[in-house]
Amino acid sequence: MLICRDLPSLRAATAALRADGKRLALVPTMGALHDGHIALVAAGRLAADAVATSIFVNPLQFNPNEDLSRYPRDEEGDLAKLRGAGCDLVWMPPVAAMYPPGSATVIDVAGPTAGWEGDARPGHFRGVATVCCKLFLQSEAQVAVFGEKDWQQLQVVTRMAADLDIPIRILPVATVREADGLAMSSRNRFLTPDDRATAPVLLRVMIQAATAIAAGDAVPAALGAGLETLRDHGFAPDYLALVEAETLKPLDARTDGAMRLVAAARLGAVRLLDNIAV
Ligand code: PAF
Repeated sequence: MLICRDLPSLRAATAALRADGKRLALVPTMGALHDGHIALVAAGRLAADAVATSIFVNPLQFNPNEDLSRYPRDEEGDLAKLRGAGCDLVWMPPVAAMYPPGSATVIDVAGPTAGWEGDARPGHFRGVATVCCKLFLQSEAQVAVFGEKDWQQLQVVTRMAADLDIPIRILPVATVREADGLAMSSRNRFLTPDDRATAPVLLRVMIQAATAIAAGDAVPAALGAGLETLRDHGFAPDYLALVEAETLKPLDARTDGAMRLVAAARLGAVRLLDNIAV
């Protein structure tokens, strides 16, 4: 597994793959890898001839209230997991290589950034879109693999790549869950044992709401009941909403198009994020 820490060595490695006629899949990550990330690498291996994983804790997507220094980092563990997963190349740029002094360009996506995480984390999607655009152009990958866990991010990145005519296919991969249903996330390690035991209630509430909506219950009533159950279990919900799957526009009644139930709720020190199809 080749590890590249500067852009010339990444470009040389990807040029060699292209010269061999190999298609590259990129898995963008911020490290602290878990089985959800490994599923993305596996999907990349099926979709292309070689897989590159980027590990970069992107300062641009953290807002001033969020603790960038507290984001979990485990370089040695990550590299061991990637070797085990059959990853071919790891792109680990230092911040100065990603954003050299004088950098002045950011990507602002409208549309699917509106609401939800866009409201809760101002500037977050500007950081995500900017770094993903750079990662796509740096790697020249043909495929980029993203988890459905961050549904809004997936839509934002898909929109950005289409709008900027970046020749890359965005490949979504289903959320990987713990046995009790909790969506895997690098931040789950910060849950206390009690909160960890409560955390799967989020998915249960979402399934109940989605089932009620699919059965014809009024959307506001189904969502209201879900929010109440979450509060009863000690969650501080930011939102539980029915949205158009691609645009993230809120829906207060069922439609024939693709719909998604999206949720974010704080449990102790951790903000849990999840979504399911309706
Ligand atoms: O989902 C993440 O880990 C990050 O937002 C991403 C896509 C790697 C961009 O920094």
